[in-house]
Amino acid sequence: MIDEERDEPAPLGPGVPAETVLAEVRGLRELDRPTHGGRLFAYVYDPAVPGLDELAVAAYAESAHVNGLDPTAFPSLLAMENALVGAAARLLGGGPGSAAPDVVGSVTSGGTESLILAVKAARDAHPEIAAPRIVVPASAHAAFAKAAHYLRVALDPVPVSAETLRPAVADIAAAIGPETVLVVCSAPSYAHGVVDPVAEIAAVAAAAGVRCHVDACFGGWTLPWLRRLGAPVPPFDFAVPGVTSISVDLHKYAYAPKGVSVLLHRDAALRAPQYFAFADWPGYTMINPVIASTRSGGPIAAAYATVRHLGDDGYLRLAALTRDAVAGLADAVRGVDGLRLMAEPESTVVCFTSTDPELDLFVLVDELAERGWHTQPQLSYADLPASVHLTVTASVAPRVAEFGPDLLAAVAAARAAGPVRLPDELRALATTLTPAALTPDLVAGLAAGLGLGAGTDGENRAPAAAGPLPERMALVNALLDAAPPALRERLLVEFVGLLQRPTW
Ligand SMILES: Cc1ncc(COP(=O)(O)O)c(C=O)c1O
Repeated sequence: MIDEERDEPAPLGPGVPAETVLAEVRGLRELDRPTHGGRLFAYVYDPAVPGLDELAVAAYAESAHVNGLDPTAFPSLLAMENALVGAAARLLGGGPGSAAPDVVGSVTSGGTESLILAVKAARDAHPEIAAPRIVVPASAHAAFAKAAHYLRVALDPVPVSAETLRPAVADIAAAIGPETVLVVCSAPSYAHGVVDPVAEIAAVAAAAGVRCHVDACFGGWTLPWLRRLGAPVPPFDFAVPGVTSISVDLHKYAYAPKGVSVLLHRDAALRAPQYFAFADWPGYTMINPVIASTRSGGPIAAAYATVRHLGDDGYLRLAALTRDAVAGLADAVRGVDGLRLMAEPESTVVCFTSTDPELDLFVLVDELAERGWHTQPQLSYADLPASVHLTVTASVAPRVAEFGPDLLAAVAAARAAGPVRLPDELRALATTLTPAALTPDLVAGLAAGLGLGAGTDGENRAPAAAGPLPERMALVNALLDAAPPALRERLLVEFVGLLQRPTW
């Protein structure tokens, strides 16, 4: 009981009835982009399978309070983890009777954690290397840069060809040195959805005695089904000699709720340096295979239920729907003068760029959003042009016929509006400012000018209903596009920092 007489501070406010809080959450959720309905082409993976959400949420609730910290206390979680690792291994060329019968793995919270752990295992397998390095195609996911940053491992990026969007194997081989502990490839890359030459890259890594990680976080749960459907998917899994580890995210194309990825190693010896153990304190001996120590059983149980329920037939059917949706969307893009596919789709990404200076992709993205299609703009990078990324999931299939006409209308509107003209002072800022010269005042002024800023509702201690971002983002994207990567990073860190303010 809080003694009101004593005028204690009330940091949380009085308790709020359950239905009020739920109404608050639902109200806030209305600010979000639609997670279902096949019109959001990033962040969410929706199979549109009736009843699947309910099943996953029920399984989640069953295990939400179970703690993955100690598998002996909660064997249910261990059993579900082992089942998920077994399923992923079998799907990716491992398990009994395969070329990789001794595959082991761990369930992590997501792709980034899986990649950080793959780098950690590779680094810690070589304590004699004082300054370890990893070789990554420039198209590899940013999580490798994060891993390198967190683990103090140097990153050796290898450029990708503007035509094939892949690295040259000879360049990978040349980048491998005596301090290299890991070579990376993607199956496929997130940005463009192309599969790297895994067999060739794994061969040069093996020849140098270096581990090779295949980042199949995005495609590991689709490529095998697409192959079964007849697509010419190149070898990318444990069937390839020299592949030592593979990551695959269940919260992507396994269609599980967020918070689950699997990191597989070809054998237990390769996995061993991934563990952290500490007994030199008075409490319990901590033995963690992954980064988190306490972790909820919810995501694991939800993933288990999802994978078991969908099964081979379910995933095959969803992959067929996705493949057809990809083909339909790619056709729609091909049908527009002034747009060009960055690559012929070979997985579940459609990515296109503009070939017409009067057709500004960032304006097009806004125009598509006005028509209810949420695509992901990608900034220009090295000699790659800016592009629009579409992560395609099964739920898009019934929407495809609506996309073509809306794309044409959005293109016409973007042409009519013309390209974003960055005011001279903003262009000068983007091209000349060094990250170190960014002051808080400058950032605040810039953010206000661009319409970025968080709103809060002080009285109710609930976030305000107003969204913090402007409706149209073309100006922001044009500014970022004009800036070099180091300034993009700083600007976005500052902008996000402005959004992340406590609610008073
Ligand atoms: C190829 C690839 N690797 C890694 C990741 C990182 O995954 P997460 O966002 O789950 O950390 C992604 C996410 O899109 C990805 O596409």
